[in-house]
Amino acid sequence: MIDTHEDLRARLTAIGQEHVLRFWDELDGAQRESLAAELSALDLETLPALIASVLEATPHESGALEPCELIELGDDRATQARDARAREAGAALLSEGKVAAFLVAGGQGTRLGYDGPKGRFPVGPLTHRSLFAYHAHRVRATCRRYDATLPYYVMTSTLNHDSSVAAFNEAENFGLEPDQVSLFQQGMLPAVDLEGKILLADKHKLALSPDGHGGSFAALMRSGALDDMERRGIEQVFYFQVDNPLAPVFDPVFLGHHVLAGAEMSTKVVPKSDPHEKVGVLGKIDGKLGVIEYSDLSDELAKRTDDQGRLVFRAGNIAIHAMSVPFIRRIASGDLSLPVHRALKKVPHVDANGVQVSPSEPNAIKMETFVFDALPLAQTSITQEVRREDEFAPVKNAEGSDSPAVTSQMLSDQGKRWMKAAGLSQPPGPVEVGPLFALDQEEFLATLTRSDFGPVFDRS
Ligand code: UTP
Repeated sequence: MIDTHEDLRARLTAIGQEHVLRFWDELDGAQRESLAAELSALDLETLPALIASVLEATPHESGALEPCELIELGDDRATQARDARAREAGAALLSEGKVAAFLVAGGQGTRLGYDGPKGRFPVGPLTHRSLFAYHAHRVRATCRRYDATLPYYVMTSTLNHDSSVAAFNEAENFGLEPDQVSLFQQGMLPAVDLEGKILLADKHKLALSPDGHGGSFAALMRSGALDDMERRGIEQVFYFQVDNPLAPVFDPVFLGHHVLAGAEMSTKVVPKSDPHEKVGVLGKIDGKLGVIEYSDLSDELAKRTDDQGRLVFRAGNIAIHAMSVPFIRRIASGDLSLPVHRALKKVPHVDANGVQVSPSEPNAIKMETFVFDALPLAQTSITQEVRREDEFAPVKNAEGSDSPAVTSQMLSDQGKRWMKAAGLSQPPGPVEVGPLFALDQEEFLATLTRSDFGPVFDRS
């Protein structure tokens, strides 16, 4: 419900933010309605505590750091048997229809600088299949493999919701059943100036940005997605991020390790490519599992190796999680809240005189929560090490590392590895294997017929 102007003014005055209504008398009806709606969607009463927690750049104490236990990579018989047991447990869960896929796609994608939701970005090396299509095709292929209708939830934000819905509509849900797919929006938080005052992007608009992937928990609950999961008998959620077309959605081995351990929230990691790769690593902070930010790892710890020459802190977080539905409910109900992080940014805004300002220096603090901050709150977790070349090719930057060129190359390279395993000669140019053709090498080998020559291997 949208508050009346007087209610809003009183609530804003109580928290020292009434300046956001300073242009009210100049606004037309639609503009007033829109500003009131933005304000009503915020939890104004808890805002002062959030703002206070990010206002001071308190010196960061990282705590005592130790590596965490890993389900390690390996090719030996014992590892294969271990993973086969996990695969069986995960496959049973999938066949019983007890897992949902959950894609987070509400980010701003600032580094990529693409005009549209990142999910629309074309990454297929030859067909230019979009990120949304890769993920949805994997969901479909998994449903087909396990003969189950597994639901798919997609989190967007105000910034890209309508265009994301349009992408799904235009593609007729990428072949998924309409009642299998739901898109919902995450929460937004205002940027504040260095005194903690909310900034206005325009006279009738707050400077809002998505509340971070940690907003997933609250958004799942608020949107009704969590109720829907419980109604459908979903027990586990496979969490992944829109920018990674190699994300093995519903991976049965990972899900199996997670449920066999009775874990509440689990994570996949890849060995860091070098000691100074800028990625958070899974480890123990003061005895509790969490993500150690790369800036918190001293040079000595980053370079430390074990007796096999492997980095001790090598467990690079690739943001693929399994979470139990009761755990999501517990976090979302708010008794265990996630910390809010501050990011100093340049935020364009209107000043007290209504003049548009485009700052050349950081002028504002954006607030965000991170999904991995829920890890220390889980009673049990597993951390599984996987191969980067098979599972992690995120599109983050326009150029250089983690750019579309690298992602496309990695998708093509995976296809070429599978072709090689099948004894096919590989073309000099790129190849592309659609998830509906094969989800993994085993399926590729089983699916291949004499008429499949590539370079595009696909089914609809
Ligand atoms: P990133 O932190 O890499 O951010 O998000 P981003 O928004 O994609 O890109 P930059 O930092 O602005 O360049 C990792 C994943 O988390 C999602 C993103 O959509 C992406 O899938 N995410 C991030 C959300 O869903 N909501 C958020 O508030 C932030």
